[in-house]
Amino acid sequence: MARIAYINGRYVPQSRAQVAVEDRGYLFSDGAYDAIPVHNGHLSFADRHLDRLDRSLSELRIARPMSRAALLQVAHELIRRNGVRNGGLYIQVTRGVAPRDHKFPKGVKPSLLMMARKWKAPAPDLLSRGATVVTMPDQRWARRDIKSISLIANVLAKQAAAEQGAFEAWLIDDGGMVTEGSSTSAWIVTATGELVTRPDGTEILPGITRSVVAEVARDLGLTLQLRPFSREEAYAAREAFLTSTSNFVLAITRIDGKPVGNGKPGPIVARLREAYLSVARA
Ligand code: PDD
Repeated sequence: MARIAYINGRYVPQSRAQVAVEDRGYLFSDGAYDAIPVHNGHLSFADRHLDRLDRSLSELRIARPMSRAALLQVAHELIRRNGVRNGGLYIQVTRGVAPRDHKFPKGVKPSLLMMARKWKAPAPDLLSRGATVVTMPDQRWARRDIKSISLIANVLAKQAAAEQGAFEAWLIDDGGMVTEGSSTSAWIVTATGELVTRPDGTEILPGITRSVVAEVARDLGLTLQLRPFSREEAYAAREAFLTSTSNFVLAITRIDGKPVGNGKPGPIVARLREAYLSVARA
């Protein structure tokens, strides 16, 4: 089935969808995006994702391209036209098309792109063996709370990790603390069983999966500490994991080549993954 994208008011075959060369997203990465999971043909946590998109856009002073109700209508239509049962919806808004000039153009409409895509289930051996992570300096800009389409530092980090045979890069701030992964939120379980993840702030993206997992963790009676953790603490953790829209909750069993705990996915991560998925599918 040919994929269909929605671009600036039209549904078009994705292979033929085009943007103007003077779109500011193309020239300046002047835009924001979000990605929403689709479970059993339904968007999960759509309001949280659209709230985050609104916030990214208002921080960048880009107008909303359409109302939330209209956006959701397009989203559902795209999911239907692309036959997506399990996958994700991508939404990108840029400041619009104008002759290249850094200053905001006047009287320009924001550009809107939406795509829906099926996701393959994670490889069974990734789930059974867990993911590997390597650490590296966080070289991103200072407003990582904005889901900007400018992802070059994330791209370079993910590529460096892949070239070392790792699934994800954990990014380290100047104080030796983990900020997050290149496209995922970072968590550890301490030797005494507390969950630790960095609190919201300008240093990280406020992950939606992370916010849901924090809630299910509390429901499961687990103790959650919202604080930065160091690379050394991560090496000494009992369990470690990442969360994201496309990976849900995924165990990390090696950090910089060192086994986490006994080197196998642990029981707390397994419980959180199951609890998260049951909320996401509900
Ligand atoms: N990545 N941190 C970063 C830097 C991210 O890019 C993402 C999401 C996350 C996890 O956020 P969430 O749980 O809301 O997906 C954390 C998206 C999916 C991406 O770029 O594809």
